[in-house]
Amino acid sequence: MAKKLIAALTDSTVFLREWMVNPQRTGSVAPSSPKLGAAMARWLPRDPESFVLELGPGTGAVTGALIKRGLREDRLIAIEHNANLAKHLRKRFPRAHIIAGDAWELDRLLNDLPEPVTSVGAVISSLPLLNFPKEKAEELVEKIRAVLDPRGRYVQYTYRIGKDRTRGSTDFRMIASQIVWLNFPPARVSVFQK
Ligand SMILES: C[S@@+](CC[C@H](N)C(=O)[O-])C[C@H]1O[C@@H](n2cnc3c(N)ncnc32)[C@H](O)[C@@H]1O
Repeated sequence: MAKKLIAALTDSTVFLREWMVNPQRTGSVAPSSPKLGAAMARWLPRDPESFVLELGPGTGAVTGALIKRGLREDRLIAIEHNANLAKHLRKRFPRAHIIAGDAWELDRLLNDLPEPVTSVGAVISSLPLLNFPKEKAEELVEKIRAVLDPRGRYVQYTYRIGKDRTRGSTDFRMIASQIVWLNFPPARVSVFQK
C-alpha cells in the first residue's frame, strides 16, 4: 500500500514538472487515474501474441493498467515524445519497447525496431489530439489505420466529454464510448474499429 502511494506521488510529481515545461504537448496536469487506465485496458487484443502500440504514455498510468490486464511487457511498444518521461517508463517497464520519439513517425519507428513490426492488435492513445490542428490529427489517425490489424481497435481518450468522436476518426466505426468521471479532469474513452 505504502509502495503504491509513493509510486503514485512520484508519477504525479514527474508529470507536473513536465507539464510546467510544456503544457501544450503534455496535455494534462495529472497522470491518468486507475479508473481511466482500466477503461482503456478493457480493449486489449484477445491474441496474447499481438503487439499493442501505446502513444503518449506519459508516466505510464495507462501502461500499468495494460500490463495489469494481462498484456505481456514484451508485446508493448510505446512512443513517448518527452525524453524524460521515456526514461522514467524504461525503468518502470524494462522489457517493453519504449521509444523516445514522435507518434507522427510511428510507421518509421515501428520499421526501425530490431525486429520490425508491421501490424498491431490495438493502438492505445493518450495523445492530447485536441491540442493539435485538425489536419495533423487526421494525418496521425491515417497512420494508425494503416498499422492496425483488420479487427484491431484504436482507443483514444479526450477531455472533451460532450463529444464521442475524437479528432480524425471519421473513417473509423465507433464501437464504444464511455465517460470516466473518476479522473482529473473527467475523460471520455472512445473505441474505434475499421
Ligand atoms: C495527457 S498526457 C498522457 C498521460 C498518461 N496517460 C499518464 O497517465 O501519464 C499526453 C502525453 O503525450 C505525449 N506526447 C505529446 N505529443 C506527442 C507526440 N507527438 N509523440 C509522442 N508523444 C507525445 C506527452 O509528452 C504526454 O506524455
